[in-house]
Amino acid sequence: MSDDAEGQHIRAHREFFRSVLEGVYKVMAERFRLSDVTIRPIGSGGSRLSIPVVIQGSNEKGQKVRYFGKIMGSSDLLTARTIQFFKNVFLQVNSMDPMFEVTKSAEDMARHQHEMLVAINKLGIPTAKPYGFYPLNADIWLLVAEYLDAHPISSIEDLSSENLDAVFGYLKRMHDNDIFHGDIKPDNLMFGDVVYIVDVGHFMKDVPTAQKKAYDLACQIASFLEYLPPGEIISIARRHYSGKELRAAADYIDLVQSRMDINFDDETKKSLLRLMRSKIGLRGSKKNLGRS
Ligand SMILES: Nc1ncnc2c1ncn2[C@@H]1O[C@H](COP(=O)(O)OP(=O)(O)O)[C@@H](O)[C@H]1O
Ligand SMILES: [Mg+2]
Repeated sequence: MSDDAEGQHIRAHREFFRSVLEGVYKVMAERFRLSDVTIRPIGSGGSRLSIPVVIQGSNEKGQKVRYFGKIMGSSDLLTARTIQFFKNVFLQVNSMDPMFEVTKSAEDMARHQHEMLVAINKLGIPTAKPYGFYPLNADIWLLVAEYLDAHPISSIEDLSSENLDAVFGYLKRMHDNDIFHGDIKPDNLMFGDVVYIVDVGHFMKDVPTAQKKAYDLACQIASFLEYLPPGEIISIARRHYSGKELRAAADYIDLVQSRMDINFDDETKKSLLRLMRSKIGLRGSKKNLGRS
């Protein structure tokens, strides 16, 4: 690119972001009565499907308040679609049914995220309280939610078995209420006073419950493999899920391993699958399993 063309490109880029930011200021002023608003991107690794931001400002009483904002536009939609498509193809070449929805617009993406956070919140599971979703301009949407003072799993020094037990209990509660997350991964689990489950994926309509449950469970088990031995994770998962459910989840472990945002090697996978598919010790009901 020539200097001039590059200059133009950068100017267009800046212009675009300025208009997006102005949209955020406007929403925060009109809908949240917030003044002196500042917006800061949340830096965190991993593949982003949005631009997550912290929005700070003063409310009508002059108190400093913080919100979590998520800006979703057409490039995020494209990335999300590509990832969903890839997972469906992976399932199909392995003779399994595709199950991931390909969202049509940034508006649908924002609405779905909002509805799911409302549903999860209603169940009393720690997540960010959703406040609304708003158009910024043409095809860019802003989701506003409660700001959580919490940290990613990678910064937790001592992952307690209480935390792990809680998060499997939350997943089970979601599943018992017909709510399926669709994108459990380390990046979407946040640790504070409690463990929060944030963000959501999107399953296609009409996917059988057992399959959605199996995929969520596989993702959640695998999310901890970088931090804990498979045996510890499985013994806690087994307090909440039956042997049959674990075996169904095992069928999705290859797909989960193909994800860029959940990491574990083949050796770990081998011992994990052995544990997930084992029938030993799984006879009888959950109440026979110790709560150590
Ligand atoms: N309510 C929140 N408060 C503070 N930080 C959050 C909140 N929700 C998410 N985050 C942080 O921002 C990151 C991106 O948010 P997320 O909803 O997962 O967006 P994406 O769809 O881009 O993955 C998360 O991985 C987490 O680190
Ligand atoms: Mg996320």
